[in-house]
Amino acid sequence: MKEKKANIAVLVSGTGTNLQAIIDAQKSGVIKSGEIKLVISNKKDAYAITRAQDAGIKTTVITKQEYGEEFENRITEVLNENSIDLIVLAGFMVILTRRFTETFKNRIINVHPSLIPSFCGEGFYGLRVHKAALRKGVKVTGATVHFVNEIPDGGEIIEQKAVRVYPGDTPEKLQKRVMRQAEWKILPKAVETISERIIDNEHL
Ligand code: GRF
Repeated sequence: MKEKKANIAVLVSGTGTNLQAIIDAQKSGVIKSGEIKLVISNKKDAYAITRAQDAGIKTTVITKQEYGEEFENRITEVLNENSIDLIVLAGFMVILTRRFTETFKNRIINVHPSLIPSFCGEGFYGLRVHKAALRKGVKVTGATVHFVNEIPDGGEIIEQKAVRVYPGDTPEKLQKRVMRQAEWKILPKAVETISERIIDNEHL
């Protein structure tokens, strides 16, 4: 087993099922090159915080209401204080500025519930993504893990997985299938891939 691990921070806003998938993958050994050191939520009532606490992970709440213009600076400060190597956006409902994404270039990854470049970019989040997929009538959708840059959902693709759309699907049904069959699988996998790259000091 490798001694050095990448220090991971997971940024969340909601229920945290993707965070749970990463926690579980760490426990089962799927993620072995990184360790979740910190969970940051921009919502004080996010259930993801409870999941992190239950797993014994340190949590911090940083809200725009409290920090205003200093919101991203505060996040940066906390990430640096904890020597974070890899930032995982797992249902983090905030679009980050170019300044932030450039500070952590090739160190931020996100999971998006479609096969990018379909149904992505500004305005495509949560159920809206699945509604758009059903409206278009696609037979296959899926999820993507990608690096985060200044363009929403525009960074380099790391992992993708396709999921069938069935007749009679509702946005809610499709969302659940995409999570279960794709997001919860490819996000932990990508976390391990990038953590390993970081500790091996590969050129990113
Ligand atoms: C997921 O569908 C993710 O792809 C999107 O937001 C949702 C978050 O769900 N970015 P959860 O908080 O991980 O349960």
